[in-house]
Amino acid sequence: MSLELRAISAGYGVGAVLHEISLSVSAGEIVTLIGANGAGKSTLAKTISGLITPISGEILWDGVRINALPTAERLRRGIAHVPEGRQLFAGMRVSENLALGSGVKPRGKPDAGVFEAALAMFPVLAERMSDIAGNFSGGQQQMLAIARGLMASPRLLILDEPSLGLSPRLVGEILDLIRRLRDQGLSILLAEQNARSALAIADRGAVIENGRIVLQGSAQDLLHSPDIAERYLGVGVAAQADAAEAARMAQRLRACVWDDV
Ligand SMILES: Nc1ncnc2c1ncn2[C@@H]1O[C@H](COP(=O)(O)OP(=O)(O)OP(=O)(O)O)[C@@H](O)[C@H]1O
Ligand SMILES: [Mg+2]
Repeated sequence: MSLELRAISAGYGVGAVLHEISLSVSAGEIVTLIGANGAGKSTLAKTISGLITPISGEILWDGVRINALPTAERLRRGIAHVPEGRQLFAGMRVSENLALGSGVKPRGKPDAGVFEAALAMFPVLAERMSDIAGNFSGGQQQMLAIARGLMASPRLLILDEPSLGLSPRLVGEILDLIRRLRDQGLSILLAEQNARSALAIADRGAVIENGRIVLQGSAQDLLHSPDIAERYLGVGVAAQADAAEAARMAQRLRACVWDDV
């Protein structure tokens, strides 16, 4: 067992958004979290990665309680979060975005071979390391966001709506990639509104409504539930970045990341 949530309640300071969530993700499995807009998927992702501290309940990682650990320490222990909307630094190069993903390692260097392994999975990135991330297509940006998440050699990857705003063909490519990561031994928590295709690659699934898990089961069982197919086939809208703000942010970050700026 890698991750176990026991009766987690969490929110943003004015009451709970999540109510007594119990959910686990074992080594080498994909668990898909299905829910409509505002159901609490991103809040749960943030609670696991440490951006939000739970009000009550327990987060266990390899059996150890990590409720109070900061995000960077959780990342060091193997929990990586690829947030909704990619959150890339649009004005920075591919190589710089990747370097930020390994920022928790000494001197910002990923483990030996990690860069190479990630780039082997993303040939399109390997060819364009010096290109500015903001010029990439939505699918390429999502791949870069996932590759950045892999830079810290995680054991659990939390993917928050990776299919958001992508064409059906690109959604297929991203899901295929997620399946290959699972086959390499990674555990994956996949938050999605795109229920049918996300369940198709999953081992297990859970449905979240109004901050509560209302149904859990094998992905196959959920996939064949007519109720779920009918209720959870929403398609998201692409996130828009403000180019000028992205460029300013990139300049400030470069100064922090690279000595020669
Ligand atoms: N920063 C915040 N401050 C206060 N409330 C928030 C904040 N972010 C989200 N919420 C509220 O928490 C609830 C759950 O939101 P959350 O973003 O977790 O949903 P979601 O399932 O990820 O939705 P979506 O599919 O739109 O991304 C919503 O009622 C939302 O308004
Ligand atoms: Mg969300």
